[in-house]
Amino acid sequence: MDASREVGRDVLLELLEDAHRAPTHGLTQPWRFQVFTGAARARLADGLQELYDRVTPPASRNEEKRAKIGAAPRLAPVVIAVAARVVPGGKIPEIEEVAATACAVQNLMLSAHANGLGGYWSTPAVAMSAEFAAWLGLDETHRMMGLLYLGYPQEGKPPAPSPRDPLAAHVVFYAE
Ligand SMILES: Cc1cc2nc3c(=O)[nH]c(=O)nc-3n(C[C@H](O)[C@H](O)[C@H](O)COP(=O)(O)O)c2cc1C
Repeated sequence: MDASREVGRDVLLELLEDAHRAPTHGLTQPWRFQVFTGAARARLADGLQELYDRVTPPASRNEEKRAKIGAAPRLAPVVIAVAARVVPGGKIPEIEEVAATACAVQNLMLSAHANGLGGYWSTPAVAMSAEFAAWLGLDETHRMMGLLYLGYPQEGKPPAPSPRDPLAAHVVFYAE
């Protein structure tokens, strides 16, 4: 991504409006987005590294991973933290609220592509943790679903290949 090229607020609002049209059982609209741009990205990166230090058991610590968590938000002009609100004992089960939020993310990513942006969804353990939800000011009814990194692609840099298996390996048709 071109870290120096900002993404306009109008473009971001279009992406978020598209996300907000996702299907939702019972119209609970469980998706929550917190958008970090400009100097807020460094605050996010530092916060994630502090959380990494707090939640990672010493035996699992990985300095490379820690450095990546601190660097990634500074390399993308927009980082969006995604959470799904799940009401404990509510009418809509957790899997459906997580699925609806994933649909919202896909809407957002398709809209990003249509607007000339590149992006990816990233789910390091720290960004999926309850501690990160608390850091974001979200209560325990929120389940973290990771981070979306968005930005304009660098000039002349083709997207990384993203191959798929033959479709037939994933689909079964029944006609009678
Ligand atoms: C739920 C989910 C979690 C993901 N987590 C990661 C991740 O932590 N790190 C990563 O490099 N890619 C992750 N990906 C994959 C990328 O977001 C992206 O889809 C992949 O690099 C392929 O690129 P493409 O979708 O543009 O083809 C995740 C994808 C999904 C759907």
